Amino acid sequence: MALDFTEHFIKHLKNADRIMFFTGAGISAESGIPTFRGKDGIWNKLKPEELANFEAFMRNPDMVWEWYQYRRKIVNDAKPNKGHLAIAEMENLFSEVTVVTQNVDNLHNRAGSSKVYELHGNIERNYCVDCKTFYSDKDWDYNKAPHCVNCGGLIRPDVVWFGEFLPEDQFMGGEKAASLCDICFVVGTSAVVYPAAYIPLTAKQSGALIVEVNIEHTELSRQADYTFLGQSGDVLPEIVKKLKELKKNDF
Ligand code: OAD
Repeated sequence: MALDFTEHFIKHLKNADRIMFFTGAGISAESGIPTFRGKDGIWNKLKPEELANFEAFMRNPDMVWEWYQYRRKIVNDAKPNKGHLAIAEMENLFSEVTVVTQNVDNLHNRAGSSKVYELHGNIERNYCVDCKTFYSDKDWDYNKAPHCVNCGGLIRPDVVWFGEFLPEDQFMGGEKAASLCDICFVVGTSAVVYPAAYIPLTAKQSGALIVEVNIEHTELSRQADYTFLGQSGDVLPEIVKKLKELKKNDF
């Protein structure tokens, strides 16, 4: 895929020190992990209020646990794709690269990105709803909601459910990166879920160039300086390739 880079875009790429990526389910689509919205989206077939909700979990913990076990298996079997790997590689090309993700699949960490803020938690972690002891999912390979070895409380996945607060340190870290970055890449997200979707708006208000990568236009497209339409696994490696060419020509 050959992208049409304008001189203006190239100038920004060359001059940027700090960049950030705000990512959503679309970046993991090419790893075989379903997105939430759109034609084959999870929320088209299943009801979030029955699965991604604390009351639903307390009402029917085994059903919710089983659904998360099913998703964990998909995530566990998946591998980071060319998009995740391109983002990790950007660390060789800029002084600071921050990833702020809405995804719970851990694929940015597995791809090698070193600074990742997880706004919606991480499906590989669990914690006790009563005493907050944390557990890794490796300890729980059965289909019923387990109980805490310390206090007997129910153990839930460490993901943000509807109506819950985002982890404050992760959100604040993301907001700070947004306010300091030169370029904010918004990749594979419909950008409709708040407060997460405030992050690229903070970047915009702070003067960053907003570059969207998506297979289609979104709510954010009007705010973006550039929208590259295509799969992130195709577009992001092209940007890395361009950056390497620019770097070579500098010497
Ligand atoms: P969505 O499912 O809402 O949006 C996925 C986006 O990815 C869409 O805009 C697609 O067009 C785009 N897309 C799909 N495949 C792509 C590809 N290969 N390359 C680039 N773009 C692609 O997912 P999110 O925006 O992540 O929240 O959803 C936000 C939040 O809503 C999720 O974190 C989750 C969900 O409810 C919680 O679980 C709290």
